[in-house]
Amino acid sequence: MKGLIAGVAAALLAGPLLLSTPVIAAEEETPEVLAPGEGREETFYYCIACHNTALIRRSGFTRQQWDELMDWMTEKHGMNPLEGELRETIVNYLAEAYPPRRQRPPAFTNPFARD
Ligand code: HEC
Repeated sequence: MKGLIAGVAAALLAGPLLLSTPVIAAEEETPEVLAPGEGREETFYYCIACHNTALIRRSGFTRQQWDELMDWMTEKHGMNPLEGELRETIVNYLAEAYPPRRQRPPAFTNPFARD
């Protein structure tokens, strides 16, 4: 019994630590959840190592911002440096598929909102 209590206590203590790690549980996703475009598969498989695609899908950046985000992900979050042709492919895809919000129709319109 003592062991069990100690185990639970340890789990409770470890909980916040686990939550603060960068890995976000990826749900079952396939490349099709991303907007169609050249480089979608490459992007999908490179990026879901750490988080699901929600972070990508809700983002809208210019090409330069996506490019900088790749370095940020590497420096800050330990992503394998993305270089060369693959980087071109992925950044081009992201810039095409997820440009700054203004240029895209809203993904969700609140039916109760009045303007
Ligand atoms: C090594 C792990 C790792 C990989 C691989 C990775 N990311 Fe991330 N990414 C993170 C972490 C950690 C965060 C921050 C999550 C948070 O703030 O909740 C993040 C956040 C983001 C964000 C949100 C940025 C913001 O506005 O705050 C975007 C967009 C993103 N990642 C895109 C990508 C794309 C695109 C790829 C593939 C090229 C990728 N990530 C690959 C770890 C990674």
